[in-house]
Amino acid sequence: MNLLSSSFLLFFLFIFTAESADPAFYSCSNGNNKTQGANIDNLLAKLVSGTIQDGFIATSDGEGKDQIFGLAQCRGDVSKNDCSSCIQDAATNIRKLCPNQADARIWYDYCFLRYKNTIFFGEVDTSGAYLINVQNVTDPDTFNKKLAALMDQISSEAVKPASKGLGKGKSDISLFIKLYALVQCTRDLSALSCAECLATAIGNFGTVCENRKGCRVLYSSCYVRYELYPFFFPLEPQESLYHSSVKNYKLIMVFKH
Ligand SMILES: *[C@@H]1O[C@H](CO)[C@@H](O)[C@H](O)[C@H]1NC(C)=O
Ligand SMILES: *[C@@H]1O[C@H](CO)[C@@H](O)[C@H](O)[C@H]1NC(C)=O
Repeated sequence: MNLLSSSFLLFFLFIFTAESADPAFYSCSNGNNKTQGANIDNLLAKLVSGTIQDGFIATSDGEGKDQIFGLAQCRGDVSKNDCSSCIQDAATNIRKLCPNQADARIWYDYCFLRYKNTIFFGEVDTSGAYLINVQNVTDPDTFNKKLAALMDQISSEAVKPASKGLGKGKSDISLFIKLYALVQCTRDLSALSCAECLATAIGNFGTVCENRKGCRVLYSSCYVRYELYPFFFPLEPQESLYHSSVKNYKLIMVFKH
C-alpha cells in the first residue's frame, strides 16, 4: 500500500471546512475531452437529483468512448436536507477541483460522489484517504477491545439487505466516555463485497488508526468512522452534534490507481 501525506491537499481541506462544517477529500486522474465534459455535466445533474430522491444512484451518460459512469450516495442516517445540500456541494466542487478529469471522487462526511469513464459499479475499491485524530486514547487495551467488538457488530448490521450498507452503534468505554462508530458501504456493492471493503478498512486500523481517539476511513467503496463524541443521527436528547476542528485531524492518502 502506498501511504503519503500532502500539505497541498490539506490546504483544500481548510477551504472546505470554512464553507461547510465537515472536512472533505478529493482525488482526480485521467484527462478527458470536451465531449466527455458535456456528458459529465449531464451526469452530475442526474446524480444530484437521484441522490436527493433516493439517497443513492449509480448511472451513466453519453455513449461509446464518451460514456461516463457515476455514483453518488448520502450517508444513510442523514436527513433529506443535509443530504441535498451535501450532494449539491459535491457536484459543484468536483467540477471546479477536477475540471479536466475523467476519474474524479469527492468525500464529505455526509455524502460521496464519483465518476469515471469506465464502469466500476459493484467493484470493491479501497483507494481514498484516512483522517486520523492527532490525540491518542489513554487506555489502549480496553479501548481497542471495545472498538473491535463494536466494529464487528455494526459491520454485520451493514451487510443485511435492509440496512442499505449502513451500520452504526455506541459502546461505553467507561462511566463517562462513550465510543461512537459508523460504517457505510456504497449501495452498488453486494453483501460480500461490502463485508470485504469494511474488513479491509477495519484491518488497517492497527497500522493507521492505532490508539487514536478518532479515525475516518474514506475509501471509494466504503466509509468507516469512530469517535469519542456523537457524530451520527438520530441524536439522543442528551447528545449534541460535535463539530470537530480540522486541526485535530491529520490526512493520510491511499491510492491504487
Ligand atoms: C473525445 O472526443 C471525440 C469526439 O470529438 C471522441 O471520438 C473520443 O472518443 C473522445 N474521448 C476520448 C477519451 O478521447
Ligand atoms: C499518538 O501516538 C502516535 C503513534 O504512537 C504518536 O506518533 C503521536 O505523537 C501521539 N500523539 C500525541 C498527541 O501524543
